[in-house]
Amino acid sequence: MDGTDDLTLLDCLNQIKWTLDGSLTYRMSCRSAICGSCAVKANGHAILACQKQASHLVKDNDTITLEPLGNMKPIKDLAVDFKPFWDKVDKVSPYLQPDKKTSEKETKQSPEQFKLIDDASTCIMCGACYSDCNVLEVDDNFLGPAALAKAQRFVQDSRDGKTLARVKELSKPGGIWDCTHCGECVERCPKPAEPFDRIKEIMTVALEQGVTSNNGARHALSFTKSVKSSGSLNENIIPVES
Ligand code: SF4
Ligand code: SF4
Ligand code: FES
Repeated sequence: MDGTDDLTLLDCLNQIKWTLDGSLTYRMSCRSAICGSCAVKANGHAILACQKQASHLVKDNDTITLEPLGNMKPIKDLAVDFKPFWDKVDKVSPYLQPDKKTSEKETKQSPEQFKLIDDASTCIMCGACYSDCNVLEVDDNFLGPAALAKAQRFVQDSRDGKTLARVKELSKPGGIWDCTHCGECVERCPKPAEPFDRIKEIMTVALEQGVTSNNGARHALSFTKSVKSSGSLNENIIPVES
């Protein structure tokens, strides 16, 4: 395409669809990085097509390589089947579960309490983090970054009454401790949701709540103990204590 200097990648896709090939299939709606529907892979990394200037993505050979998001089945062209993504969000019970009978009045939060869940609340469910998570490439059972970020939003919500039950569930295989800490989801996230940071927050709550009967928690505790006692990691002891 010529004349793409002022166009976003999504504008280019629209130009192609409207003038060259009407069968080209992709998702879009808001064009403003709000709805989360236009995520695709460009040059190997998941991005929001409406958030990136095409000129910033063009490589030396004048091309942008586009692919559908990873870790989900392509349906047609750049559209993928989001069912596994939504199934995993559903698994973390993404709604408040107060332990008292719900008050007829609003339940207030302090600014400090809201700050704990503010970042996770910005997730637009675009799937960019899910697409590029390296654990999901090898383990379908992993809940993945978006569902875990959503989980943190309820684990640390002052109005929720199921914190212990939630962190117990999230500490099972496929949960928080299966994350490899690669940080790719933070790189890919177009919002402040930054899933890996949220996963670390759930880990902290799990340890504070005494949910430590699993390899991941034991590994974290042994790691900390080793550094505290000697200033370095004792690689011989950590696997044994984990
Ligand atoms: S930090 Fe964890 S959740 Fe995020 S991409 Fe890496 S393995 Fe996946
Ligand atoms: S956490 Fe970020 S990258 Fe993942 S679905 Fe939400 S907004 Fe998209
Ligand atoms: S079209 Fe809505 S986020 Fe890109």
